[in-house]
Amino acid sequence: MPDVERDLNPDQRLEVVVLISGSGSNLQAMIDAQTRDLPIRILAVISNEPDAFGLERARRHGIATEVLNHRDYPDRASYDAALRGLVDPFHPGLILLAGFMRILTPTFVGRYQGRMLNIHPSLLPKFRGLHTHQRALDAGETEHGASVHFVTPELDGGPVIIQARVPVSAHDTAATLGARVLEQEHLIYPRAVRLFAEGRLRLGEDGRPWLDGAPMTAPLVVGTSEPSDPSLRGRD
Ligand code: GRF
Repeated sequence: MPDVERDLNPDQRLEVVVLISGSGSNLQAMIDAQTRDLPIRILAVISNEPDAFGLERARRHGIATEVLNHRDYPDRASYDAALRGLVDPFHPGLILLAGFMRILTPTFVGRYQGRMLNIHPSLLPKFRGLHTHQRALDAGETEHGASVHFVTPELDGGPVIIQARVPVSAHDTAATLGARVLEQEHLIYPRAVRLFAEGRLRLGEDGRPWLDGAPMTAPLVVGTSEPSDPSLRGRD
């Protein structure tokens, strides 16, 4: 389990490394929240894609960047070993997957278990994997959304902390629906990180998220209804 006290630096900010592959709009939301009052310090942004726009976003904010191109490695295990070699020296208290489009090995996940979060564009456990917006439309869903979860070795299968619900309209395309979901991602990811950074949230020994000293029986929900946790209302 993470020792949040230990992982906080003297200015009481949780030190974070962010992994990306693309645009980095979730990274931007995290940078913006950090600039406001989210008690984190993003130490580095690492991308497997050399041209990821998120790298530019990080540079603009003076955040260290690294590229670790997966095409330079023969297999997943060697890539993840190199990734660990990049991440470990930062001693992050938290790793954020923010549009990082690679499956991580159980060895890598195990190393950071309880200290790694992901955001996924669906109401998990529905629609793990890719093309979630089109799949939600094809399935005739009336509600779609996004989820933040602890990362476990099972792809998009870790325990969910918070979800945003987005109504599906009859006129939606994957693009219009995805755009509305992405707006919500930018709200819920910093909220989950805030709970972790404030020491309120952790992954319990029982595999469930624990919030304020008790196991969560269901994810927090924002979106079509009021947040289920009153302390989250009106923040970020
Ligand atoms: C987001 O929809 C995220 O949920 C998914 O990949 C997308 C990344 O977007 N995992 P961005 O790079 O943060 O703009």
